[in-house]
Amino acid sequence: MTQSAAVAQEAPAVNQPILHVENLQKAYHGQEVLKSVDFEIRKGQVKAVLGPSGSGKSTMLRLMALLEPSDGGSIKLRGETIGTKEHRGRTVHLPERLLARQRQDIGMVFQKFNLFPHLPAVRNVMLGLTSVKGVSHHEARELAMEMLQRVGLENRAEHYPSELSGGQQQRVAIARALVLNPSVMLFDEPTSALDPELVGEVLDVMENLAADGMTMIVVTHEVRFASRVASEVSLFDGGVIVEQAAPDQFFNNPKHERTKRFLSHVH
Ligand SMILES: Nc1ncnc2c1ncn2[C@@H]1O[C@H](COP(=O)(O)OP(=O)(O)OP(=O)(O)O)[C@@H](O)[C@H]1O
Ligand SMILES: [Mg+2]
Repeated sequence: MTQSAAVAQEAPAVNQPILHVENLQKAYHGQEVLKSVDFEIRKGQVKAVLGPSGSGKSTMLRLMALLEPSDGGSIKLRGETIGTKEHRGRTVHLPERLLARQRQDIGMVFQKFNLFPHLPAVRNVMLGLTSVKGVSHHEARELAMEMLQRVGLENRAEHYPSELSGGQQQRVAIARALVLNPSVMLFDEPTSALDPELVGEVLDVMENLAADGMTMIVVTHEVRFASRVASEVSLFDGGVIVEQAAPDQFFNNPKHERTKRFLSHVH
C-alpha cells in the first residue's frame, strides 16, 4: 500500500470515537440503574467521571468492559458494535467466546486490585498474555517486565501481592491491563481503597499514561487529578450523565444545579 493510501485509510479513524455508547440501559431487579447513558471518548482523551455513591458509575464501566450484559443501547469500539449483534431484527448478546476476544481491547482497573495471591507480580501481569492471547512464556515475561518498568515496579517482579503495598498492587493491576495493549483503559476508583500516602504513586502512573496518549475513562473522587489530567469531566447521577464539560468550566462554572450541589459537597 502506498503511504498516501495508508493515510487515507486511517483518516476517518482519527475522528471517530474509540468508544461510543448510546442509550445504554441497565436495571437490577426492576430498578433502573442506567436510564440512558450516552458517552463517547476519542483517541488520547482522558474523561473523568464523578458522581454520588450508588449512581451507577461502576455499572456503566462494567457494561463498557463487557463484564455484564446491558438491557439496551449500543456500545461501539473503534466503530464496531461490541457485546451484541443484530439477529433477525433483534439485538442479541454475543456468546462468551466472542465477548472474551472483544474484552481484550478494553483494559479495566478496579478499586480492589484482584491480583492472584499465589502468583508473583510478573506472573500476574503475564497471565492474560499466556492464557488468553496464547503468547509464549518467554515473550510474555519480556512484555510483562516492560509493563512493570512502565509502572515503576521492575524491581518487585518476583514479589507476591502480600509482599507489596496497596499502591504497588494497584500498579501491578495497571500493568496487567496495559500488557494486553487495549484501545481504552477504564479505571473504577483506582485509588479509593488506598491509604492516603499511597494515592499519589498510582495517580502519577495514570498521569504518565495519559501523557503517553492512552485513552482513559476514570471514575474517581480525586478532583485535583480530574482537573489537572482530564480533557473532560462528567457528572453522573440518577442513571444519566448530567453535565459534561472541560475541567475548568466543570469545576469553576458548572451549568447545572445538580453539579453545583455535588461540587459543594466535594470541595
Ligand atoms: N449486581 C448487582 N445486583 C443488584 N444491584 C446492583 C448490582 N450492581 C449494582 N447494583 C445496584 O446498582 C446501583 C448502582 O451501583 P454502582 O455500583 O454502579 O454505583 P456507583 O456509582 O459505582 O457507586 P459507588 O460510588 O459507591 O461505587 C446501586 O443501587 C447498586 O446497589
Ligand atoms: Mg462504584
